[in-house]
Amino acid sequence: MKIISIVGARPNFMKIAPFCRALATHQEVKHVLVHTGQHYDVRMSDSFFADLGIPEPDVHLNIGSGSHAEQVGRTMIEFEKVVRAEKPDWIVVVGDVNATCACSIVAKKEHVKLAHIEAGLRSGDMDMPEEVNRLVTDRLADLLLTPDRISSANLTAEGVQSHRIAFVGNIMIDTLEAERSKVAARNVTELVKRELLDSRDIPALPDDGFAVMTMHRPSNVDQIETLKPLIDFLTDEVTKDMPLLWPIHPRARKQLELFGLWDKVRASVVLLNPLGYHDMLRLNMGARMMLTDSGGLQEECCVLGTPCLTLRWNTERPVTLREHGGASILVGNDVEKVRAAYHEVLHSTRMPQRPELWDGHTAERIVDALLRAK
Ligand code: UD1
Repeated sequence: MKIISIVGARPNFMKIAPFCRALATHQEVKHVLVHTGQHYDVRMSDSFFADLGIPEPDVHLNIGSGSHAEQVGRTMIEFEKVVRAEKPDWIVVVGDVNATCACSIVAKKEHVKLAHIEAGLRSGDMDMPEEVNRLVTDRLADLLLTPDRISSANLTAEGVQSHRIAFVGNIMIDTLEAERSKVAARNVTELVKRELLDSRDIPALPDDGFAVMTMHRPSNVDQIETLKPLIDFLTDEVTKDMPLLWPIHPRARKQLELFGLWDKVRASVVLLNPLGYHDMLRLNMGARMMLTDSGGLQEECCVLGTPCLTLRWNTERPVTLREHGGASILVGNDVEKVRAAYHEVLHSTRMPQRPELWDGHTAERIVDALLRAK
């Protein structure tokens, strides 16, 4: 059997690492790893391959940045050539980035069976590019591997036959469980000093007395009317209570500079380079609170027990919400709501529950499902 799997952007890498490891134990399977190159910086891509022991991609498509249509179009053109040359039995895509969607369309047009890891997530928000990618991918996939029962139910409600759905758990938690013991002893102050965006003196940080934030989604950073009040709250209020660490995504930095907010942020937030997997995990393990618009961090907080304020109005990952036992509260980008949840969480000692099958063994279940699938 020959399988092509695809990665393109940062959130894909922690999902593919355990899959590569699990496949490597099956000599009968030939695995071809393709990197579309949507993310290309060392810090957005290569460092994850090194940290997580992901093998060198067999094929690199070098797609790079561009509009959605440019990324999807270029990926389809280049990936079609790979599929024609390799003639795989299965194409396996992960997550919801542009590479996921582009390669799914190519797979079906080339009559190759398609499996989707992280199927069934739905935010219901068609303004999110990822939601479009999820809908297209799941409509085309032959095998839909879901991280939780809510996602399986979403697919059933959309008419997917039950034999095509396999509830396997969350593969990203395989990576978290494999890596967490390696970083527990890492000193937070040293880590932060090493990764400071611009060199300056910072006081020693307590190993568990800081907040961490990430924010890069267009819905939060593309309009000044949304971004400015959030930045004001973070810089005028949160940083007065505790150090606030922000490993900053290139697109968020660009927007802050564009709107003239960069100097204000730099003055009070501890700005860091985009972090490697291990450093981010260490910060999350010590954080008193996470403020984020990232889906993956919401999930990791749920397992690590870090209270998480999700800077979005909806989530495709409801299993991570407090009402389902998780760690996260949807606070959108309305400052009143963010402030109220922030003060509530600051004084809470609640521990979230780990969702079913988020146990570190999802990749093995995925490989079993693939080998059994017709
Ligand atoms: C993509 C994913 C998003 C994911 C995010 C994580 C889609 C639709 N979106 O969004 O789901 O949460 O990755 O990072 O696929 N850039 C660099 N270096 C890089 C890559 C990008 O500087 O290595 C800059 C470029 O200016 C680029 C911008 O970041 O234009 C945005 O990158 P892009 O890949 O278009 O989307 P993300 O916002 O990263």
